[in-house]
Amino acid sequence: MKKIIKNGTIVTATDTYRADVCIENGVISGIGMNLSEVDAEVVDATGKYVFPGGIDPHTHLDMPFGGTVTRDDFETGTKAAAFGGTTTIIDFCLTKKGESLSSSLAEWHRKSKEKAVIDYGFHLQIVEMNDKVLNELPEMVEKEGITSFKVFMAYKNQFQADDETLFRTLVAAKELKALVMVHAENGDVIDYLVKKAINEGKTEPIYHALTRPPEVEGEATGRAATLTGLADSQLYVVHVSCAEAARKIAEARNNGINIWGETCPQYLVLDQTYLEKPNFEGAKYVWSPPLREKWNQDILWNAIKTGQLQTIGSDQCSFDFVGQKDLGKDDFSKIPNGGPLIEDRVSILYSEGVAKGRISLNQFVDITSTAAAKLFGLYPKKGTIAVGADADIVIFDPTIERTISVKNHHMAVDYNPFEGLQVTGEPVSVLSRGEFVIRNHQFVGKPGVGEFVKRAKFGERKVDKDVSATLH
Ligand code: URP
Ligand code: ZN
Ligand code: ZN
Repeated sequence: MKKIIKNGTIVTATDTYRADVCIENGVISGIGMNLSEVDAEVVDATGKYVFPGGIDPHTHLDMPFGGTVTRDDFETGTKAAAFGGTTTIIDFCLTKKGESLSSSLAEWHRKSKEKAVIDYGFHLQIVEMNDKVLNELPEMVEKEGITSFKVFMAYKNQFQADDETLFRTLVAAKELKALVMVHAENGDVIDYLVKKAINEGKTEPIYHALTRPPEVEGEATGRAATLTGLADSQLYVVHVSCAEAARKIAEARNNGINIWGETCPQYLVLDQTYLEKPNFEGAKYVWSPPLREKWNQDILWNAIKTGQLQTIGSDQCSFDFVGQKDLGKDDFSKIPNGGPLIEDRVSILYSEGVAKGRISLNQFVDITSTAAAKLFGLYPKKGTIAVGADADIVIFDPTIERTISVKNHHMAVDYNPFEGLQVTGEPVSVLSRGEFVIRNHQFVGKPGVGEFVKRAKFGERKVDKDVSATLH
């Protein structure tokens, strides 16, 4: 049955206007005033914004890390994402040295297929580069729709790849029209600083931050940017946390290098002092890169406002405080890195960004949805409200006040790093390809309904549905 969302204010990355939206066969089939309600289910959006569904370009669901596995899997994680107004995620498919890329990809499909309640894609980790990997990459892009590769410059002896691997990945990505992503921290220097700290008996969570200073992020970001320029390739820097890294990206962009950057809500709102919380509570705030001194937040807000950073990822990587984070009780380097943010990413950016006057409504849509859709080959199928686009839609009430808390979140994890933060604005209903996943704040979706999305190559667009039959 067709649906008409009536009386809402449509907001895209460029426009804000009053109109109704007609949905048929999972796509937006019409936008206009006074659309015919005959044979339609009418959804009233009076006083609400109608946003394109959020796109979270950075999640780790059901991922082994640091001797444990993230608490949220594709079911709990995507459900929480939907509550928060996200309708597509792109998760990181880990790979292993010596194993084929296709077997890693098959594993990620297994993890997600029966569980996801919203659509999803994968980035592919490149941990080594050799003929076998090079031979497999074209198939990943052309056949599997995996058009972004991820290289970790940190996590020595675990995920870290060397500079040769990074450079050869950049060269291959240019050829294949894929986007390379980096976790930019100098893993070798961090490894030395961590060992030194532990030898000196410095074991508390705060030393996680002190052994990964901003310089190691700035240096790695600059290095990756330089290598990108040399390869004439394209680069996306994940989870930018500090002024040093943001400046390296801005500089490289000024020099004509194809580089984009993402930050995350934690770096915009929380700061390094959280790692000093007593009773090991600081472990809840262990991310890599770490939380920074508070003044960095203004630099990051300014970078997203001026377009030097383009997206916001949740970097969802959740571990329980009890039973997981406490693996590092006597040694900060054993605290699993990461936190739960998939649910609150959109709300925090709206509340801290739009409601506090730091960014415009249209910038908010761009940062939480459209820019990621364009960079990662999902646009215009996703990331906008337009005829022919998937009907991934968030009906958002900007007047609702809520307090973020573990007591009411939907993630599987036993704490929320934003506990007590008051936010303004909340999704009321969320549709994925025209079907309600969240309706009046209640989950009405189904695991397994989320579809894997094969993404277009970097810089290309594909419309893979014949929507002409449904257009008015
Ligand atoms: O601390 C973090 N960021 N954990 C997730 C893995 C990563 O580095 O993105
Ligand atoms: Zn990372
Ligand atoms: Zn991450």
